[in-house]
Amino acid sequence: RKIRLVEVRSELAAGTRGASMGIDAMRIASIKRRSNFFMRFEPVSVQDENKLLFGDPQFKWAKYGEGVYTMLNRVCDTVEGLRKEKLFPIVLAGDHSTAAGTICGIKKADPGLRLGVIWIDAHGDFHSPYTSPTGNMHGMPLAMVTATDNAENEANDVEEETEALWEKIKQIGGNGPKINPDDIVYVGVRDTEAQEDYLIEKFGIRNFKTAEVNEKGVAKIAEEALEILKDCDQIYISFDVDSLDTSVSTGTGTPVPNGLSKEQAFELNRTLIKDKRVCCWEIVEVNPTLDTENKMAEHAFDILEATTESLIENF
Ligand code: ARG
Ligand code: MN
Ligand code: MN
Ligand code: MN
Repeated sequence: RKIRLVEVRSELAAGTRGASMGIDAMRIASIKRRSNFFMRFEPVSVQDENKLLFGDPQFKWAKYGEGVYTMLNRVCDTVEGLRKEKLFPIVLAGDHSTAAGTICGIKKADPGLRLGVIWIDAHGDFHSPYTSPTGNMHGMPLAMVTATDNAENEANDVEEETEALWEKIKQIGGNGPKINPDDIVYVGVRDTEAQEDYLIEKFGIRNFKTAEVNEKGVAKIAEEALEILKDCDQIYISFDVDSLDTSVSTGTGTPVPNGLSKEQAFELNRTLIKDKRVCCWEIVEVNPTLDTENKMAEHAFDILEATTESLIENF
């Protein structure tokens, strides 16, 4: 297996500006660490649509939705191409919405694949335009790929154009849902809205919260998470840096207290990626404009590099 870095400098779907700079902040962190990480792998860069941020968000409950749609398609096609060449994508992205594009790309390369997802995050990211409290689409990637939005759960009065856009998004990378909702495992999720709780409950999605990680230790959590996904052919790991405790996540748009320690995130990712079924790993939501002295990007880079080392050691 060969690794390819994918850089997605998009921040259209975040509520706070600056996440598109997270990748370059990690590059700067690598220089400070005197690491040649960014020289070792051929990076593929996905063109962004951030120019749209100078204009109107257009859809109240799916802000910059057309631009997000464009980005999801680009990420999908890029990841599909890499997976077809049997390369291992390590995706560095801005806002978390484009993770839906990553998942669609993995599936488009191999539509029959049963894909499990380990979602390490403070948030459920399970909203749709019908339920989102903000209209920020980085809170929606898991609904995009599971098509779990439904009438029972509505909170927002969604316009027809938004509905049409949402239907279009769910078709990226092929018709219908890309993953089963119960093939998702959450780690660190601690800030959800009622409509997300409803879906988590309905589909019985397992969430390993910080307290449980503290109690059982990372090794056991990783083992249990992988056991839940035992029937999946491959696994995608999505690491949102706001899963980390606010003492570490000093530069991210939606920080939440009581998160994972840096050591826990470090060990968790290093352990999970040893499973031979893991086919893609992603890190998102580093926002250096909210930080001081690039601390968040340095922590994120340390985790990125260590996780990649662990992957290589176990190839
Ligand atoms: N649930 C909140 C929302 O929908 C926060 C989502 C944060 N997501 C993220 N990827 N940081 O606005
Ligand atoms: Mn997220
Ligand atoms: Mn988050
Ligand atoms: Mn299951």
